[in-house]
Amino acid sequence: MKSARIAGLGKCLPPNVLTNADLEKKVDTSDEWIITRTGIRERRIVKAGESASDLAREASLQALKRAGIKAKDLDLIIVATITPDTQFPATACHLQNAIKATNAICFDISAACAGFVYALNTAWQFIKGGLYEKILIVGSEVLSSITDWEDRSTCVLFGDGAGAAVLLPTTSDKGVLSSYMGSDGSQTDILIVPGGGSRCPASIDTLKKKLHYIKMRGNELFRIAVRVMAEAAEKAITNVGLQTSDIDILVPHQANKRIIDAVAQRLKIPREKVYMNVDRYGNMSSASSAVALCEAWEKGEIKDGDLVVLDAFGAGLVWGSCVIRWV
Ligand code: ACO
Repeated sequence: MKSARIAGLGKCLPPNVLTNADLEKKVDTSDEWIITRTGIRERRIVKAGESASDLAREASLQALKRAGIKAKDLDLIIVATITPDTQFPATACHLQNAIKATNAICFDISAACAGFVYALNTAWQFIKGGLYEKILIVGSEVLSSITDWEDRSTCVLFGDGAGAAVLLPTTSDKGVLSSYMGSDGSQTDILIVPGGGSRCPASIDTLKKKLHYIKMRGNELFRIAVRVMAEAAEKAITNVGLQTSDIDILVPHQANKRIIDAVAQRLKIPREKVYMNVDRYGNMSSASSAVALCEAWEKGEIKDGDLVVLDAFGAGLVWGSCVIRWV
């Protein structure tokens, strides 16, 4: 039976660092509040004019190099993003042009913070089905472009970045083993950018009301995130006859240290098996789990044979988990 393995990982974090101390000068907040409530110390912000496909390009070229694959050999590019370069065409098409992946077909996935897990699962299905073999998946976000820098309840949370992975087929018993995904469209307003779409087209009025920025009821999301992330990881693991005690490393979406701690506690996974970088980058939506996976691998925290579990949750609501036996 054919499966997919991750053959190369890459990441791009803009060099410009925005610290909690910087934010104290912009809004009524404090380093102490941000660290205690979220675990975030700093985040990266793009320079003016830099877009999701610019970050995706850097991450993708690194992933391709590490996989030993040329861009023109790619069959498919999937970009997960909620901050596309343009409403259309897809950011995946902008990326295709930037890396000259002339033979790939391209599309975007909109699954917010679960976007990279949704992209990974989609790519896995294409490889299993035999339609495509060499697939680039990317989570790339310029969340600073949809952040209200006067709203202290959201502006302290988000950052910019991108992570990429090249997937190739494998016939070994390793690679992607299992996934579980969920969605709940009855809660779309809990985390949303309400303006700029066909329901509420961009106008002077939407700009005045700041409807093109992220609106979030964080407190309600927190409780749901802990529950569904724990459920998703547990289901993805038990679906293939494994147990949470078999996990070597949990790579969760990096929204909030308290959410990650609570999920790990529910899954009974010790802290040392949980990868965390939310302190340095904040929540980068679809890029968060992609960058975390890449960093964990770069630091040698993921080795051949390890059981790696990705676990994410975001606006939609959407959530999902992927189990990978590393090869
Ligand atoms: N600085 C100081 N005080 C603040 C700040 C701030 N930056 N932000 C809010 N406060 C205040 C509030 O006004 C409130 O004050 P009040 O009690 O006088 O009304 C108080 O702090 C508590 O606010 P809460 O919202 O209840 O704080 P909470 O402990 O829930 O933390 C947070 C907020 C960090 C947003 C948390 O709820 C969270 O992380 N939620 C989940 C976010 C998430 O997972 N999002 C999904 C993924 S993102 C995506 O898909 C794009």
